[in-house]
Amino acid sequence: MKIFKTRCEFQRYALELKRSGKSIALVPTMGFLHDGHMSLIDIARKKADVVMVSIFVNPTQFAPNEDFDRYPRDFDGDVAKCIDHGADVIFAPEPGEMYDPDASCWVEEVNLSKPLCGRSRPTFYRGVTTVVAKLFLLAQPDYAVFGLKDAQQCFVIQKMVRDLDFPIEIIPAPLVRDSDGLALSSRNRYLSADERSRALSIHRALLAAKAAISADRNAMAAALEKAKAEITAAGGRVDYVDILDCATMEYPLAGSRQVIVAAAAFFGSTRLIDNEIFEI
Ligand code: PAJ
Repeated sequence: MKIFKTRCEFQRYALELKRSGKSIALVPTMGFLHDGHMSLIDIARKKADVVMVSIFVNPTQFAPNEDFDRYPRDFDGDVAKCIDHGADVIFAPEPGEMYDPDASCWVEEVNLSKPLCGRSRPTFYRGVTTVVAKLFLLAQPDYAVFGLKDAQQCFVIQKMVRDLDFPIEIIPAPLVRDSDGLALSSRNRYLSADERSRALSIHRALLAAKAAISADRNAMAAALEKAKAEITAAGGRVDYVDILDCATMEYPLAGSRQVIVAAAAFFGSTRLIDNEIFEI
């Protein structure tokens, strides 16, 4: 396992690998790795000669009132899991290493990033696309794996790669859940036992909405309201429950095929997101 802490050494190593003809798969993460992250590393392992994992809690995607300072960290545990799953390289820069103090360039996608999380976290996707673009230029990957837990993020990155001609194939990976249905997330660590059991309402509500809409696509609005009511009744504070066409990230039209029903809700002070993607 090679661990790099500086942009310069990491990029030099990646360029050497490319020159020697090796293929590279990158898994960008913010660390505190769980089985969702590991499933991405397993997919990367099957695709390329060299698997790189980046571990960086990216300050530019957190708003001032969000949880950047208390975001959970466990570097030694993360390294052990990466070794266990056959990753070859970890890039884990210190906060001050990733951005120059006078950095003044952003990468921004301005359509797909607007609804859902983009509405309640208006500077979030700009931070994500900027750091991921930098990671792509540092790691020189042929493949990059992103989880559909954060489906909108995955779609925004795919759009960035197309629009800006990154020679990288984005591989979407299935959402991994706990056995009780809760979507795995580093932020689940913040939940009390009681909040965690009430948070199961998110997935229950999404599954009920999916079933209702699959049976009758005219039931969309009613199904979303019912889902919001179910999460609220469980004590959640709903940020959004919405249905969008996966291709456009707009409200589904008559011709829409693949849709996403997505939800964000607070349990206590913890904001959780989840989604179901399906054909109508
Ligand atoms: P993070 O939340 O650590 O997630 C890293 C990757 O793991 C993302 O692609 C995310 O979708 C995926 N992931 C998280 N939980 C998952 C689950 N339960 N099932 C499947 N995949 C899951 O997303 C970020 O970090 C950051 O925004 C990042 C892309 C690293 C940019 O800073």
